[in-house]
Amino acid sequence: MNKKTFYITTPIYYANAVLHIGHAFTTLAADTAVRFQQAMGNETFFLTGSDEHGQKVEQAAKLRGITPIQHTDEMVEKFKALWKKLDIQFDHFVRTTDESHKKSVQYILKLLFDKGLIYEDKYQGWYCTPCERFWTEKETSITEGKICPDCKRPIETIEEKNYFFRMSKFQTQLIEYINSHPNFIRPESRKNEVLGFLNQPLGDLCVSRPKKRLSWGIELPFDSDYVTYVWFDALANYISAAGYPYDMDKFNKLWPASYHLIGKDILTTHSVYWSTMLMALELPLPETIFAHGWWITGGGKMSKSVGNVVDPLSFVDKYGLDAFRFFLFREMVFGTDCTFSEESFVYRYNADLANDLGNLLQRTLPLVQRYREGFFHKQKETIFPQTTEIIKMSEAIKTDYIKSMNDLMFNEALGRIWELVGRLNKYIDELAPWTLAKNQKINELDEVFYTVGEGIRFVAHLVRPIMPHQMPSFIKQLGLPETFTLLPDLQWGQLPDNTKCQTPEPMFPRLDTPRIENLKAEKQPEKTKTQGAPQELSPKPAPVATSTEADLIEYDDFMKTQLCIAEVISAAKVEKADKLLQLKVKIGEEERSLVAGIAQHYTPEELIGKQVVMVKNLKPAKIRGIVSQGMILAAGTPDGGLALVQPSKPAISGVRVK
Ligand code: MSP
Repeated sequence: MNKKTFYITTPIYYANAVLHIGHAFTTLAADTAVRFQQAMGNETFFLTGSDEHGQKVEQAAKLRGITPIQHTDEMVEKFKALWKKLDIQFDHFVRTTDESHKKSVQYILKLLFDKGLIYEDKYQGWYCTPCERFWTEKETSITEGKICPDCKRPIETIEEKNYFFRMSKFQTQLIEYINSHPNFIRPESRKNEVLGFLNQPLGDLCVSRPKKRLSWGIELPFDSDYVTYVWFDALANYISAAGYPYDMDKFNKLWPASYHLIGKDILTTHSVYWSTMLMALELPLPETIFAHGWWITGGGKMSKSVGNVVDPLSFVDKYGLDAFRFFLFREMVFGTDCTFSEESFVYRYNADLANDLGNLLQRTLPLVQRYREGFFHKQKETIFPQTTEIIKMSEAIKTDYIKSMNDLMFNEALGRIWELVGRLNKYIDELAPWTLAKNQKINELDEVFYTVGEGIRFVAHLVRPIMPHQMPSFIKQLGLPETFTLLPDLQWGQLPDNTKCQTPEPMFPRLDTPRIENLKAEKQPEKTKTQGAPQELSPKPAPVATSTEADLIEYDDFMKTQLCIAEVISAAKVEKADKLLQLKVKIGEEERSLVAGIAQHYTPEELIGKQVVMVKNLKPAKIRGIVSQGMILAAGTPDGGLALVQPSKPAISGVRVK
């Protein structure tokens, strides 16, 4: 039997947002996994794409005065341009507007409808428009007031005929499956989260939207007044793009997917909705759903609505693609959240790339040139015990590395490789080839050079999936053709006798501190956003806001931020957080809870009754366990304090500020 293709997917990204390093991270991770599998000699298939239907896309297009498909066509071009710049080697880019995808979704719907697994019902329920989902009475009653348990925004009751997928029927089967397949949901903590979710009775899933409310979607094959719920449509991409049901030869080669790589934000939809959909279709489940953590900046998840996103290209342009890839995978423990900052980037770059790896190559090759005319000579016998140690270590590291890379634990894999890099640098110091040369110990000298050269060759092979553009140069500088041995065949001693190395090229020039300072100065003035996000309100003086041509935004974009007048009705200190105040504010009739970092600048008492300006449509965030549903605006004062932004005379409560 043929070996199964390694099939990996990324989420298909919403075609209404600009992609940032969060999205780039998932996609680069899939790319790294694929390059590793190829280096193992395996066949691979890498799927990414765009999620194009639904209310948000329809609204975004409307705002721009164009049709949804014109809008998504443009977005898709941008996605593809970014992936090209990041040299993402996907095999297929699926669009949910592709005819083949639509046909596949309709086939699935019809099949489940005919099996009685999709049924019609009258439905009255609580509906969250931004999340495009219904909530049960019970689910909403766990939260204070009628707000969406997910996004914490107000929800409304809606009654209408709809179609439902009998998700509840598969609850027990799913729990059993998760328990009997330890690798199905990873990491372990996410698996437990899903099992916790499944402790509650699972409802059925509303899979239709009446066209009168939303027309931008795939029409139901059994009722032309309805379109398909966007998640049901989107999740099916993983099989539609693999050929289901119209190219079953391809499908059988690819399915089940080896990995669905996702961020933790979309864990439930994948592990519960998607798994039960597959069970209903009697198809095998993916081997692993891997939910990684978030990249965090400014105290919160990087996201467009918070305004704290980092453009991957700014980093790639400044530091190079491989250094960027290296940083992402060295820094993030795959599965947990990680803070992104330019400082940590520069620190990591200097320590691991400039000092350790770059230095290893740059100090070794000139020594080989000076003392052995650039030739590596292979020895028959080993003289130094340190050499034996390094050979053993390399082999053990290769084994661990393969396991970690197979498991997508990239930071673990890199950690092990850097142990070898460190050991090789130390080996040079310990055995001091310059002294061996002075004392005419030629055999010893050759052993040291060969060991380090072979060590570099090993390292280059192992690092290549993560830094695919720069490792060929390492191999070339050693004097080898730029081809790589498949990893299972990689063995110590393959560096041919009499290989002649080249003069080293500068690889990872050190970034010095003044450059970091410059970077800070360059980056800071973007917007007065340090005062923006509630988790971030800081007592530091605000940087002066300046705008370059590239920063300018359209009026419509500005109008997406809903600023309004809010009145503080209560305020209290947050326990064990000396910078934070918990506020209750009124916007017209609506009450909201906020957390603001202003405790060092205002007492709770002086705030009560004050009118402030607040961002109303900011995604809620949990700060110290308290849900913050918006953000109040403040600006830095000359003495390093903070001043709340207020209307100059009493304004109407809840009125829009524009
Ligand atoms: N369209 C859905 C997915 C449907 S898949 C059948 C969607 N799209 S999205 O554009 O919002 O992308 C979400 C994904 O982007 C996350 O799951 C994650 O892969 C990536 N990230 C977005 N922000 C992120 C961070 N701040 N950090 C890390 N990755 C995150 O959800």
